[in-house]
Amino acid sequence: MGKVRKVRPVRREVVAAAPTKKRALPNVPRPLAAPPEREEGGRVARESAGAVVRRATQADAFARIVDPWRKQGFGYRAFLVGASGTGKTWFSRALIDYTIASGAAEWAFVYDHKDPKPGFDGLQRRDVADFLTRPPEATDPSVVVFHEDAPGEPDEVSDLAMSLGIPALVDVDECFPDLVSDGGQKFRNGATCPSAMLLRTGRSRCVSGIFGTQMPQEIPTAIMDLCESTVVFRLQARGLNYMARDERIPPHAVSVVRGLKVGEFIIISEGAWDGVVYGPT
Ligand SMILES: Nc1ncnc2c1ncn2[C@@H]1O[C@H](COP(=O)(O)OP(=O)(O)O)[C@@H](O)[C@H]1O
Ligand SMILES: [Mg+2]
Repeated sequence: MGKVRKVRPVRREVVAAAPTKKRALPNVPRPLAAPPEREEGGRVARESAGAVVRRATQADAFARIVDPWRKQGFGYRAFLVGASGTGKTWFSRALIDYTIASGAAEWAFVYDHKDPKPGFDGLQRRDVADFLTRPPEATDPSVVVFHEDAPGEPDEVSDLAMSLGIPALVDVDECFPDLVSDGGQKFRNGATCPSAMLLRTGRSRCVSGIFGTQMPQEIPTAIMDLCESTVVFRLQARGLNYMARDERIPPHAVSVVRGLKVGEFIIISEGAWDGVVYGPT
């Protein structure tokens, strides 16, 4: 598909139709992530391919990714990378819930076009045009999922979120190939496409982004560079070597990433890893 369709004229109606006030937390479809549980002394030594690591929970990770920005009234950007089946979608479902429940976003829009079955619960819409034609009721969940054979493009979802003027979240569950040009490691709709603009300017507009991939070597480096948090699950050799080559994964973290189990991950911020392995619970 070429150009992003123009949806701007219809969108105003949706803004009017959507609740203008912050939605009540009981609408959140799934329970909040469990509060952080710390092992005695706050740290557990674990040998993983020779590296001593500290353990923390998924809830600790959410607080680290979202809260510093939410407290300042900003959006956050998280890049999720890992081989297929390592826990990215599980993690993003819970991160979306945390984002909504913590008030960092009023709406979450998920571009879910990888598997035949939807990976996310929420208000299911075919694409952005369908969402605009059938705006949500006040009782609908705050998570809108674009899934089906042809859910448009991630850029349409980013464009929608950036234009609403409310705290919102976009999750592109898999950036490759729908967000990028074939093999070009470039944004499909150009360097100033709505998703690139969300990554560049979403923070100050209180629009957050979760961008996931199992193919880091196939996506624009700008996606990785503009995300404050890189959440790394176990990676296949090619992706890991690519990320390690220019130290997007620092040398002392490489063997740890190789040994991660399903649902385990590390977080890299500003090129640094703090020695923590986060667990799935
Ligand atoms: N945090 C978790 N807790 C329990 N099981 C998990 C967790 N994360 C992943 N899994 C298991 O691994 C499978 C694949 O996870 P998924 O998130 O779909 O991987 P990915 O999105 O990276 O391909 C899930 O269907 C589930 O069985
Ligand atoms: Mg997935």
